[in-house]
Formats: sequence, structure tokens, C-alpha cells
Amino acid sequence: MRCISGSFRRRALLNWVTLVVTLMSAAPVPAVDPPVRPEFAPAEIKRILEFSQLGAVPPDPTNRVADSLEAAQFGQRLFFSRWLASDMNTSCATCHMPERYFTDGDRVGRGVGVGTRNTPTLINSAYQRWQFWDGRSDTLWSQALHPIETPHEMNGSRVSAVLMVASDERLRADYERVFGALPDLSSAVRFPRGARPGADAGEAAKTAWHGMAEQDRESVNQIFSHLGKALAAYERKLVGRGAAFDRFVDGLREGNPEKQQAISAAAIRGLRLFIGEAGCRNCHFGSRFSSGEFHDTSVPPADGGVPRDAGRFDGVRKLRDDPFNAAGRFSDDPKGALAERTMAASAPPESWGQFKVPSLRNVAKTAPYMHEGQFATLRDVVRFYSTRENAVPAGHHPQETILRPLRLTNEQIDDLVAFLETLTDQQIADPQWLKPPD
Ligand code: HEC
Ligand code: HEC
Repeated sequence: MRCISGSFRRRALLNWVTLVVTLMSAAPVPAVDPPVRPEFAPAEIKRILEFSQLGAVPPDPTNRVADSLEAAQFGQRLFFSRWLASDMNTSCATCHMPERYFTDGDRVGRGVGVGTRNTPTLINSAYQRWQFWDGRSDTLWSQALHPIETPHEMNGSRVSAVLMVASDERLRADYERVFGALPDLSSAVRFPRGARPGADAGEAAKTAWHGMAEQDRESVNQIFSHLGKALAAYERKLVGRGAAFDRFVDGLREGNPEKQQAISAAAIRGLRLFIGEAGCRNCHFGSRFSSGEFHDTSVPPADGGVPRDAGRFDGVRKLRDDPFNAAGRFSDDPKGALAERTMAASAPPESWGQFKVPSLRNVAKTAPYMHEGQFATLRDVVRFYSTRENAVPAGHHPQETILRPLRLTNEQIDDLVAFLETLTDQQIADPQWLKPPD
């Protein structure tokens, strides 16, 4: 592990030390129960092997700097910078804290204001087909542009962001190394601070934006898209490895009984439920334990009222309207497979109130759960699947038929939780990426 520089503030230092210690102590927990280890049938083994460890991060041809080290380093600086926000005090890391597996432990995100949705982890986000709970972004780089301008998150603007990079010596050097020379942005008349478009922008911001020359708006958008691409290059470094479960799967594949001891007998019973009777694998499958698609689990809204969040239904419209989507003019592959997928995305009536099936890797570290952080613990989530107590189907569409009360025993609930706890990675990135750059 890399040495931690002494220049950090005390609290930050403590956080990093805690993180390193947590990661180091998260070694596979040896089985404590007596070795009543069920033999898996060949069909079960086949299912379990489908959960094998993640492969390499998939390429993103819409971002030509996706795998550039310089871009990732620039992105890292942007990620931890507090100056992209209107309060000069909120960064991506305010909500996506490395020491909390890139979440915030809060029910909903809190930045310049208070949001309505729970902060997902960024670990392995580069593997996702869709970003956000409603999938309104189709690439990591277009996703990264939203929080900068979202009023309750960073409340910034694309013009201010671009000017900030241009005026900071280090950021400017980083930028130019990756994307080439910045144009002359020195005229405050041509580039009014705070200018931005968008339905959630204030009147002054919108007027200023639409008062700009088209050419100037275009070059701001271009630079802004580059900031997103650098942030994405950084996020592509956040790849988890070394979960006890992966060791167990290796053991199963290799017929190595010692490796199979990496998870407890309770976790093995939970796994068997997960792939069998409990039906979890219908939606949580593959290396990420997610279909990558959208469903309505009928989880009751946090405030107890009727569901008001349209989820995927609105997400598809926003995705189509986003000039930064994979098919748009800022994409480096606007006719490619990602663009085609975006053009094909549809929002049938039943998509109202559907949310993305989250990955379950590292889930034990990312409480609270569900899109509004409705549940405080994994036990609460599993209990909900078991009883379906207070389930409120969203909208007027036919109810999800896959989910029915499972009526699990307390021991079965414990077993499922024990299994979910084996999905925690020992390493969530090379340590150099887990702190602000020097
Ligand atoms: C105020 C807290 C906050 C800040 C600041 C913030 N985020 Fe987020 N982030 C969230 C929340 C909440 C969501 C989910 C929102 C939704 O789905 O509508 C999210 C979603 C995401 C996702 C999608 C993950 C997934 O699994 O769908 C990515 C990637 C992401 N943020 C990256 C960033 C980056 C990069 C920045 C800085 C430019 C940033 N975030 C700033 C709270 C925040
Ligand atoms: C019909 C598809 C489906 C099935 C079956 C399913 N899930 Fe989910 N799961 C989802 C969706 C969708 C969400 C997000 C729901 C939301 O936020 O509104 C979710 C959320 C979760 C979460 C919270 C993760 C987080 O980061 O917030 C956990 C844990 C979970 N599921 C575990 C399970 C387990 C265990 C089972 C089996 C008992 C199961 N799921 C069955 C679709 C499904």
C-alpha cells in the first residue's frame, strides 16, 4: 500500500487509515459453524459459476479517453475538487465517500441541498449498462455532468465549471495534457459565470446561457463533456476484487475444498436459497448480481404516501433528451452499439415506478437500501422480500408477478444476509485512487 502523505488534515487521515484497516481486515471469514456443507447439484453449480468474478472493465468507445491514465488522474482531481459546486464546498466525494465504499451512509444524498434518492456506490459502476436509479444516463461520462448542475447536489453550472478549470493552474495543465489547448475564455461577457440551460436551472442562468453566441455555447459544451470523460476515466479505476464469495466460487470451479471454506455454512445455505427457492437470481444475476434492467419491487415510499417517483418511465425521456447521450454529437461513437441501445430504449406504461436492479457486490457496506434508502439494514430488505409487508405497487400497471411473499423463517433470513455479506470486496481500487491526488 502506498504511504499516506502527512499533509492531510487529521480527520481525513483518520478516514483513510480506517479505510485501509477495514480493507485489510476484511479477509475471508473462516467458517465458524460446524461443517454441515450441502453438496450442490450440477445444475446449482452451473448457476453459481454464473456469478463468477468480474472480468475486465468493458470498453467505452463513446469516450476516447476512457482508458487514458492522464485522463483518470485529471478525473481524480475533479472528483475531489470542491470548487465545481456553487458553495465551493461540495465535491463528488461529499456523497461518494471512498471510506464508505463510495456511498454516504445517508438515506438520501445531501450536497448543496437535500435530494430524494439514495446515493449508490461507484465501485464497478463502469460495468453498468445504465446509470442512475432510473437509468437516465447511458454512459459514465454523461452521468458525471448531471451532479455538477443538479441544484440539490453541486448546484454549479457548465460555464462556471469550465471557467474554474481554465483559471486553476493545475487543472488547466491536466486538462490540456489530455484534451489539448483550451480556447480563450477570458471574456466575462461572452462566458457569463453561472450560465446553464436545463429545466431545473434558475431564470438568470437560463437567460445568460441563451444570450451566449451559439459557437461559444458549443465550445463550453465540448469542454464540459471532456470533464465528464475525465471523471469517467477515474471511475473506471474503481473496480472491486477479492470477495470471499469469489474465492468460494474459484474453489467450486477448481474442486478445491480449502477455497470452498471461504464462506460459512450459513452463507452457503443463503446462496442456495438465493439461486433457488427465494428467486433472487431472477433479477440479481451475472457477475454483478444485476440484470441491469428495471423492476418495481413495490417498496413503500419513505414518507409512507403513494409512490410519486416515476423512475424508469421518466428516465427514458430524459435519456433521449440528453444532448450528451451516447448517440449525441459529444459522443466519440455516435453510431455505435451503445448509441443504438439508447435509441431503442422504451418507456412502456409499466415502466412507471420501476428502478434499476442494483448490483449486490459490497451491499453489506452500502446501507441504507433501495432508491429512497427505505431500509436501514440488509435484514430489513430481506424481511421485506419475505413478508411483502406494506408493499405498494407503483402506478396502475399489472403488478410484478415475479415477487410474492416468500415467508422465510428467521434462520433463512439470517442465511440470506450471511450470503450477501460474502460479497464484500477486500480491495475496491488501487489505493492511489482512494484519496485526493497529492
Ligand atoms: C449530493 C450528493 C451527491 C453528489 C455531490 C454527487 N452524487 Fe453521484 N449520486 C448521488 C445520488 C443520490 C445518486 C442517485 C441519483 C438518481 O438515481 O437519481 C447518484 C448517482 C451517481 C452515479 C450512478 C451510479 C449508479 O449506480 O447508477 C454515478 C456514476 C455518480 N453518481 C457519480 C458522481 C460524480 C462523478 C459526482 C461528481 C461530479 C457525483 N456523483 C456527485 C449523490 C451525489
Ligand atoms: C423482480 C426483480 C427482483 C427480484 C426477484 C429480487 N430483487 Fe432485489 N432488487 C430489485 C430492484 C428493482 C431493487 C431496487 C428497488 C428500489 O430501489 O426501488 C432491488 C434491491 C435489492 C437490494 C437493495 C440493494 C441496494 O443497494 O439498495 C437488496 C439487498 C436486494 N434487492 C436483495 C434481493 C434478494 C435477497 C432477493 C431474493 C429474496 C431479491 N433481491 C429479489 C429487483 C429484484
